[in-house]
Amino acid sequence: MSEVVAIYPGSFDPMTNGHLDLIERGSRLFGRLIVAVLTNLEKEPLFTVSERVEMLTAVTEKMENVSVDTFSGLLVDYALRRQAEVILRGVRAFSDYEYELQMALMNRKLEPRVETVFLMPQETYSYLSSRMVKEIFRLGGSVKGLVPPIVEERLQQKVFP
Ligand code: PNS
Repeated sequence: MSEVVAIYPGSFDPMTNGHLDLIERGSRLFGRLIVAVLTNLEKEPLFTVSERVEMLTAVTEKMENVSVDTFSGLLVDYALRRQAEVILRGVRAFSDYEYELQMALMNRKLEPRVETVFLMPQETYSYLSSRMVKEIFRLGGSVKGLVPPIVEERLQQKVFP
């Protein structure tokens, strides 16, 4: 088993099945995978940090080498604190590429010891995003199959209490 510690960072507002797919892939590749929720989001999130952590923790409960944490400040500083060598990111479509490239190269400039690794989620999830899930749900559409059941329940409580 690999000894490599990887960080999978993001806003996860809320997590989707695309995120879960990437977590499963990452947990198979790396010795330890830390899913890290960014706490200082610029935009107003739908779910609080603790709600997002709770959903991620519930969904990854059975994955022994996966843990959930929060971070603020620079991602590379957090990675060093956690002794992680890898930042894991998912690339869905070509449209993700420019932003991800910019972020990976900037992170490399800030901290060359941390490497960004990209994985592609299952193609079924290549069009999926947290933003769309929220929009569909708010407008009364079904998000079944797009998010884990616990996220669907929490969306219901949050959006249509
Ligand atoms: O899921 P997201 O919103 O695309 O995740 C973006 C995230 C959290 C990975 C990114 O915003 C981030 O790393 N923020 C921390 C601040 C930082 O390190 N910025 C410099 C990276 S270029």
